[in-house]
Amino acid sequence: MSQNDAPEADLENLLHETRTFPPSEEFAAQANATAELYQVAAADRGAFWAEQARSLVSWSTEFTEGLDFSGAPVARWFGDGRLNAAYNAVDRHVEAGHGDRVAIHFEGEPGDTRTLTYADLKEQVSRAANALADLGVATGDRVAIYMPMIPETIIAMLACARLGAPHSVVFGGFSAEALHSRIIDADARVVITADGGYRRGKPSSLKPAVDEALAKGTDVRHVLVVERTGQDVDWTEGRDVRWAEALEAASPEHTPVEVEAEHPLYILYTSGTTGKPKGILHTTGGYLTQTAYTFRYVFDHKPETDVYWCTADVGWVTGHSYIVYGPMLNGATQVLYEGTPDTPDKDRWWAIVEKYRVSLLYTAPTAIRAAMKWGDEYPGRHDLSSLRLLGSVGEPINPEAWIWYRNTIGGGKTPIVDTWWQTETGAIMISPLPGVTAAKPGSAQVPLPGASVDVLNDAGESVPNGHGGYLVLTEPWPSMLRGIWGDLERYKETYWSRFEGMYFAGDGAKKDEDGDIWLLGRVDDVMNVSGHRLSTTEVESALVSHPSVAEAAVVGAKDDTTGQAVVAFVILRAAAGEDAAGEEAVAALRNHVAKEIGPIAKPRSILVVSELPKTRSGKIMRRLLKDVAEGREAGDVTTLADSSVMEQITQGMKAG
Ligand code: WT7
Repeated sequence: MSQNDAPEADLENLLHETRTFPPSEEFAAQANATAELYQVAAADRGAFWAEQARSLVSWSTEFTEGLDFSGAPVARWFGDGRLNAAYNAVDRHVEAGHGDRVAIHFEGEPGDTRTLTYADLKEQVSRAANALADLGVATGDRVAIYMPMIPETIIAMLACARLGAPHSVVFGGFSAEALHSRIIDADARVVITADGGYRRGKPSSLKPAVDEALAKGTDVRHVLVVERTGQDVDWTEGRDVRWAEALEAASPEHTPVEVEAEHPLYILYTSGTTGKPKGILHTTGGYLTQTAYTFRYVFDHKPETDVYWCTADVGWVTGHSYIVYGPMLNGATQVLYEGTPDTPDKDRWWAIVEKYRVSLLYTAPTAIRAAMKWGDEYPGRHDLSSLRLLGSVGEPINPEAWIWYRNTIGGGKTPIVDTWWQTETGAIMISPLPGVTAAKPGSAQVPLPGASVDVLNDAGESVPNGHGGYLVLTEPWPSMLRGIWGDLERYKETYWSRFEGMYFAGDGAKKDEDGDIWLLGRVDDVMNVSGHRLSTTEVESALVSHPSVAEAAVVGAKDDTTGQAVVAFVILRAAAGEDAAGEEAVAALRNHVAKEIGPIAKPRSILVVSELPKTRSGKIMRRLLKDVAEGREAGDVTTLADSSVMEQITQGMKAG
């Protein structure tokens, strides 16, 4: 383990949490999930997943094969089946007579609204697919999507899926630099973007970053631009195409392209332990099966009556699986909100819940803690009685936030599902089942029926209850990643080399006395800031790319709101001069990181130091820096090449 070992204090706090919340009889009586589901899945895992694949997904060619792991660690699921993801998310609901059902209640940050039914979506997605085809996008071509949170983003993703053209969505908060490297890695042919979107009460631009990224050189032929804010944008004739015009000119009829179950659906980049983000590859049949299944059972979704809202951005995997594919495969009615939770005021989310009578809410602990800090008066202004289930994802939820979420937002009655999963797993793996599991605040608890999880010690042995270790997934699952785009070796090395034949998630975990699982955070050099993954190396590379920085070390330090915060230690170049250590220069360095990666990567603090703690072999001991960043006495310094270094840094931290 390295810098992100779970702090013991937290562990103690968690494990003294003994409250449990059994489901109410009322909820259990109407729940989609039953305890029997565990038995059915355990009796025959393969048959269980095939049954989910048949009942929740429509196939144009039925599959006869289940799991094929002969090419391990790359799995194939339902390999001889054929289908189309967009058809499953949209068309079949229209064909089943639900064309008039609202798919999306869109709420723009300025307060503008739009309602799109499944029939509307079918038309829009078909037009967009035709427009993309006209721009030369063929089955298998990659399309990059760099968008705000507006309906066109979902339409764009589904239009790609309709053509069998894998999408690569890049979070709109990422920089031109980050966008460029992702476009290059996926070798995208077309970029779909918007002039901008609304954030914090004003238009925030996107198109200039696309222009900047493409100026660095790519193989992109066209940029399709949605008009959202009406901002002025530079225009490259022949390359840039207006979304509205292209869709208007396109036919509203489009036959979905039937693809093989293992056809790539999308690539989504996530941070690993090196500076280069990994393009996580998801394919079609298994991914749709597990996102649809988990949405139905974990959120207890009822298509006729529920209004669902996931507050994540579509640029993250949560948006892919639980805004686009999982909900839409289930024919859900959902809210899509463009902006920030405190615009125009800190009650915006709760106003939205009241306005649309949201019944299922899925958000992240960081947002819950922020709302808690803002105070009860904001949710108190609104009628939240429509809520009947709450979800949490992205990082461990501390019991205090869990209780607040249930009492203040859930009126003391809603089940809470604490869902553990990753970009790589594609869908939820560990979560209580609402109506079945007695919830324990702070614990994600149990593998879902069909999932197989264990906690291992250093020697690779399953730990007994009451002990901690490394979280692994011991059996393949349908929505598992099929590799890292263009880098099979890295896939094997990252996930399959630590424990023979098992997927290593990179998380520490503990089994309590009941065998319930508690997630304890990353055990590698990956930080979790507001539920978003960042690698320490990625931020360090960004820092050393600044002319005044000679060396940098970055750690994720505990933060009350964001879970972890980025804290950097830098050594300046001699040539940088005295001024480089001043307040302004430090602010410039923070902005430099935002420019290189995106604002989420901006360090909370940067400490200028003269040395970094290193072992005799030259490895930076981030663990010690983390101690300092979290205000603790630095741990064992005996393996340092120069043991006085930590003293200097601690002094500097106190002085700063
Ligand atoms: C990492 C995955 C899954 C979508 C959002 C993040 C942490 C995720 C939980 C949870 C404790 C959690 C893990 C995991 N994580 N959910 N319920 N409890 N930790 O996706 O960016 O791929 O990050 O998020 O550390 O490895 P991601």
